Order: sequence, then structure tokens, then C-alpha cells
Amino acid sequence: MQDLKGKVAIVTGASRGIGRHIALQLAQRGADVAINYRSRQSEGDEVAREIEALGVRSLAIQADLSKMPEARSLVDQVYDTWGRIDILVNNAGITRDKSMKKLTDDDWNDVLDTNLGSVYATCSEVLKIMMEQNFGRIINITSFVGQAGNFGQANYAASKGGIIAFTKTLALEMARYNITVNAIAPGFTETEMLEQVPENIREQIIARIPMGRFGQPEEIARAVVFLAAEGDYITGQQINVNGGVYM
Ligand SMILES: NC(=O)c1ccc[n+]([C@@H]2O[C@H](COP(=O)([O-])OP(=O)(O)OC[C@H]3O[C@@H](n4cnc5c(N)ncnc54)[C@H](OP(=O)(O)O)[C@@H]3O)[C@@H](O)[C@H]2O)c1
Repeated sequence: MQDLKGKVAIVTGASRGIGRHIALQLAQRGADVAINYRSRQSEGDEVAREIEALGVRSLAIQADLSKMPEARSLVDQVYDTWGRIDILVNNAGITRDKSMKKLTDDDWNDVLDTNLGSVYATCSEVLKIMMEQNFGRIINITSFVGQAGNFGQANYAASKGGIIAFTKTLALEMARYNITVNAIAPGFTETEMLEQVPENIREQIIARIPMGRFGQPEEIARAVVFLAAEGDYITGQQINVNGGVYM
């Protein structure tokens, strides 16, 4: 199905993990896809090659999105190259897990700047373009942790809760321009982010998940592509793809 043919998408943090699968699935549906990464150039270039092998255009752009000027520049580079931006997926994210007793100012700022500041910056830059087009689909990757909280993740939970509130507000302001803004809230998903968690804790986590297993990044990506391709009348929502870990 090539229902995104002619559309231009940006996926942040797409050198691996969930973002890589989002980028590939958007390309499978026919979109030209610009991917972003922070440091892993060879992996970013490889994803761009995989996208081009699907018969669409791709760009791999290095940018540290914790810095707002770099986040804005990412959007500008894609627009300068392809002349439109239809879909923005804000996926880049990090964790710096510690209980509040041990959390440092740097742990707080790194996570808030990367996970939430980047979403503000890319959105503020892309909105001008999407308003002019009278079309846009923005999908922000949050987490069930932004809904439920999680021990040792005060910084991450605050950043992801902030994304949900930001998403709803932007959806209200942008609806009249045919720009939809939604959030996808994954549960525990098998990527390098989850590999950082010790094995004994991973076993405890699985015991908490009603479906009894971690999510796969492909499963998160499918919900993103649904919103991008078929979510014309869906805005301001958070869609949970979490195996039932939060209801
Ligand atoms: N995995 C889970 O269990 C889970 C659950 C809920 C929500 N999420 C959310 O889903 C999203 C993707 O997570 P993931 O598990 O796929 O993570 P991941 O495997 O750790 O990949 C993170 C991606 O983000 C990029 N990135 C990190 N910091 C960046 C920065 N400052 N500027 C630009 N790019 C940056 C990385 O680029 P490099 O490769 O260059 O470092 C990489 O492409 C995140 O927002 C995460 O919070 C994940």
C-alpha cells in the first residue's frame, strides 16, 4: 500500500530502536523519510540505505536535539531539500534513571532537554510550514511512565507527562489548520533502552505486564503509521501500545 506516496516525513532518533521501525514503515507506505540521529552515524546511514531500497528518498541528518537550534535546523534542512513536511514523528529520547535521592541537576536537564525541549523546538519550527500547507500530522512518542509514574524515573516521567500535555494543547491550537497532533504511549519495548535494565528487574517488569511479554518496536511503529496515514479525524489523543501495563 503506497498511501503516503508524495508525503515527506521526519523521524527523530531513528538510527535504531522504535524510531528505525517507524521510519521503515513510513517508507513502506511510500513516504520520503528524513531520519535523525545524535551520534551513531553508521547506523543512521544504514537506515537511510534501507529506506532508499524501498524506492523512496531518504536523508540521514545528524543533530543533537537537546539543543534547540539544532532541532530547528533539522526541520529547516528537510524543508530546504524537499520543499514540504507532512509528517513529524518526535521519537528521540533518553533515560537517566535514579531515585530522587540521587538524581542530579544534569540528569534532570539532559532528560528534559532531550525528551521535551526537542519536541517543543521541532514543533515550533514545523508548524509554520504545516500551517502554510494546511496539512500536517505530528506524532509525539511519550510513554506509559508519563501517565503512571515509575520508581527511579522522576525526570523521564516529567518529560513524558509534559509531552502529553503539550500534545493536547497543540492539537487544540492547530486543528483549524488541518494539523493533527497525537501521542503514542508505548509500554516496555525491546530496544537498547530496555537492555540497560538489569535482568532481574526485567523479570519483575514482565510479571507486571498483563500480556506477559515486552512490546516489539514494530508494534509501536504500526500505531504511528496508522495515525499518519489514516488518522484524519483523530487529534489530541494518546494511544497506548503497552500490553495492558497501564489502562
Ligand atoms: N524502549 C522502551 O521501553 C520505551 C518505552 C516507552 C517509550 N519509549 C520511547 O520511545 C522512544 C524511542 O525509544 P527507543 O527504546 O527506541 O530508544 P533507543 O533504542 O535508545 O534509541 C534512541 C534513539 O534516539 C536518538 N537520540 C537520543 N538522544 C538524542 C539527541 N539528543 N538528539 C537526537 N537523537 C537522539 C538515538 O540516536 P543515536 O543512535 O545516534 O544515539 C537513537 O536513534 C523514546 O522517546 C523513548 O522514551 C521507549
